[in-house]
Amino acid sequence: QTYERLKAEVNNPKIHWAYLPYAMHMAGPREALQHMIIRRNYGCTHFIIGRDMAGCKSCLSGDDFYGAYEAQDLLRKHSNELGIDVAEFKEMVYVYEDNAYLPVSEVDQAKTTLNLSGTELRQKLMDGTEIPEWFSFPEVVGILRDAYPPKNKQGFTIFFTGLPSSGKSTLANVLMSRLMEITSRPVTLLDGDLVRKNLSSELGFSKEHRDLNIKRIGYVASEITKHRGIAICAPIAPYSETREEIRSIIEQYGKFILIHVATPLEICELRDLKGLYAKARAGQITGFTGIDDPYESPESPELRIDTSMLDPKDAIENVMKYLEGQGLLDIRNDC
Ligand code: ADX
Repeated sequence: QTYERLKAEVNNPKIHWAYLPYAMHMAGPREALQHMIIRRNYGCTHFIIGRDMAGCKSCLSGDDFYGAYEAQDLLRKHSNELGIDVAEFKEMVYVYEDNAYLPVSEVDQAKTTLNLSGTELRQKLMDGTEIPEWFSFPEVVGILRDAYPPKNKQGFTIFFTGLPSSGKSTLANVLMSRLMEITSRPVTLLDGDLVRKNLSSELGFSKEHRDLNIKRIGYVASEITKHRGIAICAPIAPYSETREEIRSIIEQYGKFILIHVATPLEICELRDLKGLYAKARAGQITGFTGIDDPYESPESPELRIDTSMLDPKDAIENVMKYLEGQGLLDIRNDC
């Protein structure tokens, strides 16, 4: 879509536009070479290549992983053999006074040069700040903005974890109402008992079955997050590794906020909403979380709530403040 907009802007009948439906792997010079081979096979005579094609950053140092002109050097070497010429471009910058792009080496030192890195562009899309017209056509930016919405339009998942009767469902319900009051995004509640009834009715409470249950919840939440909704999950989810596993899936699409409902076991047991603690103590059920089955407390959740100390409404106000601080709320005008 961005290329279609670009084509309309350029509006030059001498240019034939053809798109390569291929996702860059950021594999550097060898990937650039692969691109050149593909072009050659489609009959192109020249291949334009700029600075650091298919480049990426080192995840250790944050510096460019490949040399700026390594890809150009490799392609030049293979140009004769492949029968396609390389049109090399040096690094280009925007020169403010000339309202034009020029190779860095040709710019008069006294002039103002402007540039936006890929990281800066992504940041601007993320926080919804202005992307200058010298960088891209507004029409093209519009398409990018739709594809990469700012944080307050992205989906996210709030994942409550805690012992049975710790208050997860109560908090999840209060949070759902609060969110529905203020946001235009759809809110979906994946409560432990509801999921057990509707998605995981054949599962029991072994580690294997609990993990499977949590992974199902994680998968549904990741789909909701991907499609820009808000997912609220409230299972026990006793195992750290499984929680972190689904975090990494969901974080591909939006924020994952883990809230540990850290109500002490004694209080949960006193509440014993379903009488299951009593049954577990009496040995009538085995493998009950907190009694004879483990609960691994999260070491660094985004938030921790102890419902023995805080009223659910107040606790949820803290969650709302957190979400607002993270820039995740798209508060409707009428609120
Ligand atoms: S999880 O471990 O897989 O995350 P989940 O939240 O879906 O658990 O289900 C917990 C609910 O199942 C509890 O609220 C309780 O009503 C019921 N339950 C029945 N047996 C057990 C058990 N052995 N351990 C924990 N919860 C149990």
